[in-house]
Amino acid sequence: MENHVIEMLNIRKEFPGIVANDNITIQLKKGEIHALLGENGAGKSTLMNVLFGLYQPEKGEIKVKGKKVNITDPNVANDLGIGMVHQHFMLVDTFTVTQNIILGHEPKKFGFIDLKKAEKEVADLSERYGLKVDPYAKIRDISVGMQQRVEILKTLYRGAEVLILDEPTAVLTPQEIEELIKILKSLVNEGISIILITHKLKEIMEVCDRCTVIRKGQGIGTVNVAETSTDELASLMVGREVSFTTEKQDANPGKTVLSVKDLRVKDNRKVEMVKGLNLDVKAGEIVGIAGVDGNGQSELIEAITGLKSIESGSIFLNDKEITNLSPRKVTQSGVSHIPQDRHKFGLVLDFPIGENMVLQSYYQKPFSKNGILSFNNIYDKAKRLIEEYDVRTPSEYTKARALSGGNQQKAIIAREVDRSPDLIIAAQPTRGLDVGAIEFIHKKLIEERDKGRAVLLISFELDEVMNVSDRIAVMFDGNIIANVLPQETNEQELGLLMAGSNQAKEGAQ
Ligand SMILES: Nc1ncnc2c1ncn2[C@@H]1O[C@H](COP(=O)(O)OP(=O)(O)OP(=O)(O)O)[C@@H](O)[C@H]1O
Ligand SMILES: [Mg+2]
Repeated sequence: MENHVIEMLNIRKEFPGIVANDNITIQLKKGEIHALLGENGAGKSTLMNVLFGLYQPEKGEIKVKGKKVNITDPNVANDLGIGMVHQHFMLVDTFTVTQNIILGHEPKKFGFIDLKKAEKEVADLSERYGLKVDPYAKIRDISVGMQQRVEILKTLYRGAEVLILDEPTAVLTPQEIEELIKILKSLVNEGISIILITHKLKEIMEVCDRCTVIRKGQGIGTVNVAETSTDELASLMVGREVSFTTEKQDANPGKTVLSVKDLRVKDNRKVEMVKGLNLDVKAGEIVGIAGVDGNGQSELIEAITGLKSIESGSIFLNDKEITNLSPRKVTQSGVSHIPQDRHKFGLVLDFPIGENMVLQSYYQKPFSKNGILSFNNIYDKAKRLIEEYDVRTPSEYTKARALSGGNQQKAIIAREVDRSPDLIIAAQPTRGLDVGAIEFIHKKLIEERDKGRAVLLISFELDEVMNVSDRIAVMFDGNIIANVLPQETNEQELGLLMAGSNQAKEGAQ
């Protein structure tokens, strides 16, 4: 008799127009890290939301430590020792770390919240599991990595023995991922059992004991990680072979499209983050920016796209100055932007996905005539994009919020690429996408390059930068400190350069 802490047996969950989970079974052993793998929209988040009591299944049963349970809401899940960290965090920005962790479970003394006691408990938990946080900092001032540790602490504070993590590494830098992996191992050593959703097959190979695969809402099976390979996992989830390297011809660069000169930009705290940077991107080439997070990449993108005003320097697009223009003016001059944070800048979640696909152009023909929106034209276009980019949604009228994370991302990419811009700025474009979708997006970016567009790719994934770029600009401390060709470098050298060592290569631009 296996020692299962959680059993979800033959679960079925429907949404209007779609069966998100159709007869899925997953069994979690005590102390294991169990991966849940499947394409974007396969039903992973839905299944875990059922376990966490956010959705009620139409069929099937859930057992906790062998006993049948009825998880009617997340409080019941908490009481059963189940905690969940969602794909999009659910923290209160203006509260401190401690306030967020104890929210709804505040220790009381004489009827008042005993903050001292709470702070002590949080410090103890964070020490015990190696989850470093600053208990007094406000959420809005801390890194994404720390916010995630807060979410994990929140579940531990509520006594979680089973932890569900929905794509925790999608939003992290490689350094933060390493740290999280250590944390997961120490949690397991303390007897906690983990369900980990991730699209990164290497992570599954590195930390997981078993992996359950689902495809289009159906359970495909569970494999022992030690007995499988990334290739097998990929084909199990997609139902075909997936290639991990991108085929492409050499670039044929034309005239300079983007030219950034002596750019200086400060961040919100008035610290200079971009320090006299120069960068050119030509028509028909993909320039990849490699760098450790926090070396000015975000400020560079925000400056080019008009989201942030600059201190000094200039930005030209096709020889026309676009420095400090409004985001809409920058867009109109021919710049597309696939933003890093899709919820903040990418989508209006309560609008239908179809309308989200014309967010940059709804006020123009043929979507608007004499100030009146032509919904026929809007939805015709949306329908075409949904098909072309394989955005999995019940219909073009479905609210953006109801799409799976990866399909929201595909919708943004479709909208931005389809505008036929001169310059595409792609910031972490494949974040949260499954391996098949990543393959597709890489091909698409290369296709756009071959049509003569300039592409600026910013990514923390070195594989991606190496595979897709024609030229790599290494960004360190607010500057481009080296330009290298992907075929003449390797991940080690890039890593050194990114750490600020330019002994490996001379010749900053
Ligand atoms: N609240 C909802 N209302 C309607 N449909 C939904 C809702 N939540 C999810 N869906 C649909 O259920 C299906 C499964 O979505 P789910 O979010 O579980 O996918 P996922 O496997 O987590 O994908 P991803 O890897 O992209 O996050 C999708 O077709 C999605 O559009
Ligand atoms: Mg999901």
